[in-house]
Amino acid sequence: MDELRGKYIEAIAEAADEAALEELRLAAVGKKGEVSLKMRELGKMSPEERQVAGPALNALKDEINTALTARKVALADAALDERLKTEWLDVTLPSRPRRQGTIHPVSQVTEEVTAIFADMGFAVAEGPQIETDWYNFDALNIPGHHPARAEMDTFYMARGEGDNRPPHVLRTHTSPVQIRSMEAGGAPTRIICPGRVYRADYDQTHTPMFHQVEGLAIDRDISMANLKWVLEEFFTAYFGTNVKTRFRASHFPFTEPSAEVDIQCSFEGGTVKVGEGDDWLEVLGSGMVHPDVLRAGKIDPDEWQGFAFGMGIDRIAMLKYGIPDLRAFFESDLRWLRHYGFAALDVPTLHAGVSR
Ligand code: PHE
Repeated sequence: MDELRGKYIEAIAEAADEAALEELRLAAVGKKGEVSLKMRELGKMSPEERQVAGPALNALKDEINTALTARKVALADAALDERLKTEWLDVTLPSRPRRQGTIHPVSQVTEEVTAIFADMGFAVAEGPQIETDWYNFDALNIPGHHPARAEMDTFYMARGEGDNRPPHVLRTHTSPVQIRSMEAGGAPTRIICPGRVYRADYDQTHTPMFHQVEGLAIDRDISMANLKWVLEEFFTAYFGTNVKTRFRASHFPFTEPSAEVDIQCSFEGGTVKVGEGDDWLEVLGSGMVHPDVLRAGKIDPDEWQGFAFGMGIDRIAMLKYGIPDLRAFFESDLRWLRHYGFAALDVPTLHAGVSR
Protein backbone atom coordinates (compact mmCIF):
# COMPACT_ATOMS: atom_id res chain seq x y z
CA MET A 1 0.00 0.00 0.00
CA ASP A 2 2.86 2.35 0.81
CA GLU A 3 4.25 1.45 -2.53
CA LEU A 4 1.02 2.55 -4.23
CA ARG A 5 0.96 5.78 -2.26
CA GLY A 6 4.55 6.48 -3.11
CA LYS A 7 3.87 5.83 -6.77
CA TYR A 8 0.77 8.04 -7.19
CA ILE A 9 0.88 10.92 -4.70
CA GLU A 10 4.16 12.19 -6.04
CA ALA A 11 3.27 11.64 -9.69
CA ILE A 12 0.00 13.53 -9.19
CA ALA A 13 1.78 16.48 -7.59
CA GLU A 14 4.06 16.67 -10.62
CA ALA A 15 1.47 16.05 -13.38
CA ALA A 16 2.21 18.55 -16.15
CA ASP A 17 -1.33 19.08 -17.41
CA GLU A 18 -4.95 17.96 -17.21
CA ALA A 19 -4.41 15.05 -19.60
CA ALA A 20 -1.58 13.59 -17.51
CA LEU A 21 -3.69 14.03 -14.43
CA GLU A 22 -6.59 12.16 -15.98
CA GLU A 23 -4.28 9.31 -16.96
CA LEU A 24 -3.10 9.01 -13.35
CA ARG A 25 -6.67 9.10 -12.06
CA LEU A 26 -7.66 6.20 -14.31
CA ALA A 27 -4.55 4.19 -13.40
CA ALA A 28 -5.16 4.62 -9.64
CA VAL A 29 -8.84 4.99 -8.83
CA GLY A 30 -10.53 4.38 -12.24
CA LYS A 31 -12.70 1.25 -12.63
CA LYS A 32 -9.67 -0.83 -13.49
CA GLY A 33 -7.22 1.25 -11.48
CA GLU A 34 -4.73 -0.35 -9.12
CA VAL A 35 -6.45 0.89 -5.96
CA SER A 36 -9.87 -0.23 -7.24
CA LEU A 37 -8.56 -3.69 -8.05
CA LYS A 38 -7.07 -3.97 -4.58
CA MET A 39 -10.43 -3.05 -3.11
CA ARG A 40 -12.06 -5.80 -5.05
CA GLU A 41 -9.69 -8.28 -3.45
CA LEU A 42 -11.05 -7.36 0.00
CA GLY A 43 -13.81 -9.94 -0.47
CA LYS A 44 -11.31 -12.74 -0.64
CA MET A 45 -9.61 -11.74 2.63
CA SER A 46 -10.24 -13.10 6.06
CA PRO A 47 -12.31 -10.82 8.30
CA GLU A 48 -9.23 -9.93 10.35
CA GLU A 49 -7.21 -9.01 7.31
CA ARG A 50 -10.10 -7.08 5.89
CA GLN A 51 -10.47 -5.03 9.07
CA VAL A 52 -6.97 -3.67 8.57
CA ALA A 53 -6.81 -3.48 4.79
CA GLY A 54 -10.32 -1.98 4.24
CA PRO A 55 -9.91 1.32 6.08
CA ALA A 56 -6.33 1.67 4.84
CA LEU A 57 -7.44 1.30 1.21
CA ASN A 58 -10.29 3.74 1.69
CA ALA A 59 -7.93 6.24 3.26
CA LEU A 60 -5.52 5.84 0.33
CA LYS A 61 -8.33 6.33 -2.16
CA ASP A 62 -9.40 9.55 -0.38
CA GLU A 63 -5.83 10.74 -0.25
CA ILE A 64 -5.39 10.17 -3.96
CA ASN A 65 -8.66 11.93 -4.81
CA THR A 66 -7.69 14.90 -2.66
CA ALA A 67 -4.31 15.07 -4.35
CA LEU A 68 -5.98 14.91 -7.78
CA THR A 69 -8.28 17.82 -6.92
CA ALA A 70 -5.46 19.87 -5.44
CA ARG A 71 -3.31 19.42 -8.52
CA LYS A 72 -6.22 20.25 -10.79
CA VAL A 73 -6.78 23.56 -8.99
CA ALA A 74 -3.07 24.32 -9.05
CA LEU A 75 -2.92 23.70 -12.80
CA ALA A 76 -5.93 25.96 -13.42
CA ASP A 77 -4.38 28.71 -11.27
CA ALA A 78 -1.14 28.49 -13.18
CA ALA A 79 -2.97 28.69 -16.50
CA LEU A 80 -4.84 31.78 -15.34
CA ASP A 81 -1.62 33.41 -14.11
CA GLU A 82 -0.08 32.76 -17.48
CA ARG A 83 -3.06 34.34 -19.27
CA LEU A 84 -3.10 37.36 -17.00
CA LYS A 85 0.57 37.89 -17.69
CA THR A 86 0.13 37.89 -21.45
CA GLU A 87 -3.15 39.78 -21.53
CA TRP A 88 -1.94 42.55 -19.27
CA LEU A 89 -3.18 45.96 -20.25
CA ASP A 90 -1.55 49.26 -19.41
CA VAL A 91 -4.46 51.61 -18.94
CA THR A 92 -2.12 54.54 -18.45
CA LEU A 93 -0.84 54.41 -22.05
CA PRO A 94 -1.92 57.43 -24.09
CA SER A 95 -4.80 56.52 -26.41
CA ARG A 96 -4.38 56.26 -30.16
CA PRO A 97 -5.53 59.39 -31.98
CA ARG A 98 -9.05 59.06 -33.35
CA ARG A 99 -10.28 60.69 -36.50
CA GLN A 100 -12.61 63.48 -35.58
CA GLY A 101 -15.31 64.60 -37.96
CA THR A 102 -18.17 67.00 -37.89
CA ILE A 103 -21.42 67.19 -39.76
CA HIS A 104 -21.09 69.78 -42.51
CA PRO A 105 -23.54 72.68 -42.23
CA VAL A 106 -24.97 71.86 -45.65
CA SER A 107 -25.68 68.27 -44.64
CA GLN A 108 -27.19 69.35 -41.37
CA VAL A 109 -29.40 72.00 -42.94
CA THR A 110 -30.49 69.55 -45.65
CA GLU A 111 -31.64 67.20 -42.89
CA GLU A 112 -33.44 69.99 -41.09
CA VAL A 113 -35.21 71.14 -44.25
CA THR A 114 -36.17 67.60 -45.20
CA ALA A 115 -37.62 66.94 -41.74
CA ILE A 116 -39.75 70.08 -41.82
CA PHE A 117 -41.17 69.40 -45.29
CA ALA A 118 -41.69 65.74 -44.44
CA ASP A 119 -43.97 66.89 -41.62
CA MET A 120 -46.01 68.71 -44.29
CA GLY A 121 -46.26 65.60 -46.45
CA PHE A 122 -43.46 66.22 -48.94
CA ALA A 123 -41.43 63.21 -50.10
CA VAL A 124 -37.79 63.51 -51.18
CA ALA A 125 -37.08 63.10 -54.90
CA GLU A 126 -33.69 62.96 -56.58
CA GLY A 127 -32.30 63.44 -60.05
CA PRO A 128 -28.95 63.28 -61.83
CA GLN A 129 -26.40 66.08 -61.54
CA ILE A 130 -25.34 65.57 -65.14
CA GLU A 131 -28.56 66.50 -66.87
CA THR A 132 -29.81 66.58 -70.44
CA ASP A 133 -30.43 69.87 -72.20
CA TRP A 134 -34.10 68.89 -72.35
CA TYR A 135 -34.67 68.40 -68.62
CA ASN A 136 -32.50 71.32 -67.53
CA PHE A 137 -33.87 73.83 -70.04
CA ASP A 138 -36.44 73.00 -72.73
CA ALA A 139 -38.88 71.05 -70.57
CA LEU A 140 -38.81 73.99 -68.17
CA ASN A 141 -39.87 76.35 -70.93
CA ILE A 142 -36.36 77.71 -71.50
CA PRO A 143 -35.77 77.37 -75.27
CA GLY A 144 -32.34 77.59 -76.88
CA HIS A 145 -32.37 81.34 -77.48
CA HIS A 146 -33.77 82.27 -74.06
CA PRO A 147 -31.71 84.77 -72.02
CA ALA A 148 -32.19 82.60 -68.92
CA ARG A 149 -29.71 80.20 -70.49
CA ALA A 150 -27.01 82.83 -70.31
CA GLU A 151 -27.89 83.65 -66.71
CA MET A 152 -27.53 80.02 -65.85
CA ASP A 153 -24.27 79.53 -67.70
CA THR A 154 -22.88 76.21 -66.64
CA PHE A 155 -20.46 73.43 -67.48
CA TYR A 156 -21.06 71.40 -70.61
CA MET A 157 -20.07 67.81 -71.18
CA ALA A 158 -18.17 67.13 -74.40
CA ARG A 159 -19.96 65.33 -77.26
CA GLY A 160 -18.21 62.91 -79.56
CA GLU A 161 -16.81 64.17 -82.87
CA GLY A 162 -19.61 64.86 -85.36
CA ASP A 163 -22.33 64.48 -82.72
CA ASN A 164 -24.41 67.60 -83.04
CA ARG A 165 -26.93 66.97 -80.33
CA PRO A 166 -26.95 69.56 -77.53
CA PRO A 167 -24.40 68.65 -74.86
CA HIS A 168 -25.36 67.40 -71.42
CA VAL A 169 -24.90 69.97 -68.69
CA LEU A 170 -24.15 69.99 -65.00
CA ARG A 171 -27.64 70.94 -63.87
CA THR A 172 -27.98 74.65 -63.14
CA HIS A 173 -30.90 74.18 -60.74
CA THR A 174 -32.92 71.42 -59.11
CA SER A 175 -35.96 72.25 -61.28
CA PRO A 176 -35.31 69.40 -63.78
CA VAL A 177 -36.34 67.06 -60.96
CA GLN A 178 -39.82 68.62 -61.22
CA ILE A 179 -40.17 67.18 -64.71
CA ARG A 180 -38.62 63.85 -63.81
CA SER A 181 -40.91 63.32 -60.84
CA MET A 182 -44.02 64.44 -62.75
CA GLU A 183 -43.17 61.87 -65.42
CA ALA A 184 -42.46 59.18 -62.86
CA GLY A 185 -45.36 59.75 -60.47
CA GLY A 186 -47.99 61.85 -62.24
CA ALA A 187 -50.41 63.97 -60.23
CA PRO A 188 -51.18 64.67 -57.44
CA THR A 189 -47.68 64.99 -56.07
CA ARG A 190 -45.78 66.70 -53.28
CA ILE A 191 -41.99 66.48 -53.38
CA ILE A 192 -38.87 68.32 -52.42
CA CYS A 193 -35.54 67.75 -54.07
CA PRO A 194 -32.38 68.81 -52.25
CA GLY A 195 -29.13 68.58 -54.19
CA ARG A 196 -26.07 70.04 -55.86
CA VAL A 197 -26.30 72.52 -58.70
CA TYR A 198 -23.65 74.21 -60.84
CA ARG A 199 -23.04 77.58 -62.45
CA ALA A 200 -19.96 79.18 -63.92
CA ASP A 201 -19.63 81.76 -61.14
CA TYR A 202 -17.03 82.46 -58.50
CA ASP A 203 -16.87 85.35 -56.08
CA GLN A 204 -17.56 86.09 -52.43
CA THR A 205 -21.21 85.15 -52.68
CA HIS A 206 -21.10 82.62 -55.54
CA THR A 207 -19.39 79.27 -55.89
CA PRO A 208 -19.40 77.09 -59.03
CA MET A 209 -21.19 74.37 -57.07
CA PHE A 210 -23.89 75.10 -54.53
CA HIS A 211 -27.02 73.50 -53.15
CA GLN A 212 -30.70 74.05 -53.75
CA VAL A 213 -33.88 72.51 -52.55
CA GLU A 214 -36.74 72.39 -55.01
CA GLY A 215 -40.35 72.10 -53.92
CA LEU A 216 -43.28 70.95 -56.03
CA ALA A 217 -46.92 70.47 -55.06
CA ILE A 218 -49.53 69.56 -57.67
CA ASP A 219 -53.18 68.87 -57.10
CA ARG A 220 -56.55 69.96 -58.48
CA ASP A 221 -56.81 73.24 -56.61
CA ILE A 222 -53.39 74.27 -55.31
CA SER A 223 -53.00 78.05 -55.26
CA MET A 224 -50.49 80.80 -54.46
CA ALA A 225 -52.10 80.94 -51.01
CA ASN A 226 -50.98 77.35 -50.37
CA LEU A 227 -47.49 78.32 -51.52
CA LYS A 228 -47.37 81.23 -49.11
CA TRP A 229 -48.62 79.15 -46.18
CA VAL A 230 -46.16 76.33 -46.82
CA LEU A 231 -43.20 78.71 -47.07
CA GLU A 232 -44.13 80.69 -43.96
CA GLU A 233 -44.65 77.47 -42.06
CA PHE A 234 -41.25 76.31 -43.25
CA PHE A 235 -39.35 79.48 -42.31
CA THR A 236 -40.94 79.62 -38.89
CA ALA A 237 -39.98 76.01 -38.15
CA TYR A 238 -36.51 76.37 -39.66
CA PHE A 239 -35.50 79.61 -37.94
CA GLY A 240 -37.44 78.78 -34.78
CA THR A 241 -39.17 82.15 -34.76
CA ASN A 242 -41.99 83.86 -36.61
CA VAL A 243 -40.64 85.08 -39.94
CA LYS A 244 -42.55 87.55 -42.11
CA THR A 245 -42.25 86.98 -45.85
CA ARG A 246 -42.52 89.38 -48.77
CA PHE A 247 -43.59 88.13 -52.19
CA ARG A 248 -42.27 90.24 -55.07
CA ALA A 249 -43.62 89.75 -58.58
CA SER A 250 -40.87 88.30 -60.72
CA HIS A 251 -40.28 86.19 -63.78
CA PHE A 252 -39.20 82.61 -64.34
CA PRO A 253 -39.89 80.85 -67.64
CA PHE A 254 -41.25 77.81 -65.76
CA THR A 255 -43.76 79.56 -63.48
CA GLU A 256 -46.68 81.91 -64.10
CA PRO A 257 -47.23 83.99 -62.08
CA SER A 258 -43.79 84.05 -60.48
CA ALA A 259 -42.60 85.53 -57.23
CA GLU A 260 -39.32 86.04 -55.51
CA VAL A 261 -39.62 85.63 -51.77
CA ASP A 262 -37.80 87.73 -49.17
CA ILE A 263 -37.68 87.10 -45.46
CA GLN A 264 -37.75 89.72 -42.74
CA CYS A 265 -34.39 90.47 -41.15
CA SER A 266 -32.22 93.10 -39.49
CA PHE A 267 -28.66 94.00 -40.43
CA GLU A 268 -27.97 95.91 -37.23
CA GLY A 269 -24.49 95.66 -35.73
CA GLY A 270 -23.10 94.03 -38.85
CA THR A 271 -24.88 90.71 -38.34
CA VAL A 272 -27.99 89.42 -40.04
CA LYS A 273 -30.83 88.45 -37.76
CA VAL A 274 -33.81 86.72 -39.32
CA GLY A 275 -37.31 87.33 -38.01
CA GLU A 276 -36.71 90.86 -36.71
CA GLY A 277 -36.09 94.37 -38.08
CA ASP A 278 -37.36 96.12 -41.22
CA ASP A 279 -35.00 94.79 -43.85
CA TRP A 280 -35.61 92.04 -46.35
CA LEU A 281 -33.43 89.30 -47.73
CA GLU A 282 -34.17 87.39 -50.89
CA VAL A 283 -34.06 83.63 -50.33
CA LEU A 284 -36.00 81.90 -53.08
CA GLY A 285 -37.81 81.89 -56.40
CA SER A 286 -41.28 80.49 -56.75
CA GLY A 287 -44.57 80.54 -58.62
CA MET A 288 -47.40 78.54 -60.12
CA VAL A 289 -46.09 75.83 -62.43
CA HIS A 290 -46.40 76.98 -66.07
CA PRO A 291 -48.90 74.93 -68.14
CA ASP A 292 -46.16 74.12 -70.66
CA VAL A 293 -44.05 72.67 -67.85
CA LEU A 294 -46.94 70.49 -66.66
CA ARG A 295 -47.37 69.31 -70.25
CA ALA A 296 -43.64 68.54 -70.52
CA GLY A 297 -44.10 66.40 -67.38
CA LYS A 298 -47.09 64.62 -69.05
CA ILE A 299 -49.62 66.20 -66.71
CA ASP A 300 -52.81 67.77 -68.07
CA PRO A 301 -52.86 71.51 -67.15
CA ASP A 302 -56.65 71.61 -67.59
CA GLU A 303 -57.02 69.18 -64.74
CA TRP A 304 -54.06 69.91 -62.45
CA GLN A 305 -52.17 72.92 -61.15
CA GLY A 306 -49.55 73.54 -58.53
CA PHE A 307 -46.72 75.59 -57.14
CA ALA A 308 -42.98 75.22 -57.28
CA PHE A 309 -40.11 76.91 -55.49
CA GLY A 310 -36.34 76.75 -55.45
CA MET A 311 -34.26 77.82 -52.49
CA GLY A 312 -30.50 78.04 -51.85
CA ILE A 313 -29.52 75.66 -49.04
CA ASP A 314 -26.11 77.27 -48.49
CA ARG A 315 -27.84 80.61 -48.22
CA ILE A 316 -30.27 79.61 -45.51
CA ALA A 317 -27.52 77.68 -43.68
CA MET A 318 -25.41 80.84 -43.57
CA LEU A 319 -28.39 82.84 -42.37
CA LYS A 320 -29.35 80.47 -39.59
CA TYR A 321 -25.83 79.91 -38.31
CA GLY A 322 -24.44 83.39 -38.97
CA ILE A 323 -21.74 82.23 -41.37
CA PRO A 324 -20.39 85.23 -43.30
CA ASP A 325 -18.40 84.00 -46.29
CA LEU A 326 -19.58 81.40 -48.78
CA ARG A 327 -16.06 80.44 -49.81
CA ALA A 328 -14.90 79.75 -46.26
CA PHE A 329 -18.03 77.68 -46.09
CA PHE A 330 -16.77 75.11 -48.56
CA GLU A 331 -13.27 74.78 -47.24
CA SER A 332 -14.60 72.66 -44.39
CA ASP A 333 -11.89 73.80 -41.98
CA LEU A 334 -12.54 71.84 -38.78
CA ARG A 335 -11.63 74.71 -36.45
CA TRP A 336 -14.07 76.82 -38.37
CA LEU A 337 -16.87 74.25 -38.28
CA ARG A 338 -16.41 73.82 -34.54
CA HIS A 339 -16.44 77.56 -34.07
CA TYR A 340 -19.94 77.58 -35.52
CA GLY A 341 -20.94 74.68 -33.35
CA PHE A 342 -21.13 71.85 -35.87
CA ALA A 343 -20.31 68.63 -34.07
CA ALA A 344 -20.20 65.00 -35.08
CA LEU A 345 -23.44 63.18 -34.28
CA ASP A 346 -25.23 66.45 -33.73
CA VAL A 347 -28.41 65.02 -35.16
CA PRO A 348 -30.96 67.67 -36.02
CA THR A 349 -34.45 67.25 -34.75
CA LEU A 350 -37.68 69.12 -35.09
CA HIS A 351 -38.49 68.30 -31.53
CA ALA A 352 -35.60 69.95 -29.70
CA GLY A 353 -36.57 70.89 -26.20
CA VAL A 354 -39.23 68.24 -25.88
CA SER A 355 -38.25 66.07 -22.97
CA ARG A 356 -38.61 62.36 -23.40
N1 PHE B 1 -34.97 77.24 -60.57
C1 PHE B 1 -34.98 78.61 -60.09
C2 PHE B 1 -33.54 79.07 -59.87
O1 PHE B 1 -32.66 78.24 -59.82
C3 PHE B 1 -35.73 78.73 -58.79
C4 PHE B 1 -37.20 78.43 -58.97
C5 PHE B 1 -37.66 77.15 -58.78
C6 PHE B 1 -38.09 79.41 -59.30
C7 PHE B 1 -39.00 76.85 -58.91
C8 PHE B 1 -39.42 79.14 -59.44
C9 PHE B 1 -39.88 77.85 -59.24
O2 PHE B 1 -33.27 80.23 -59.72
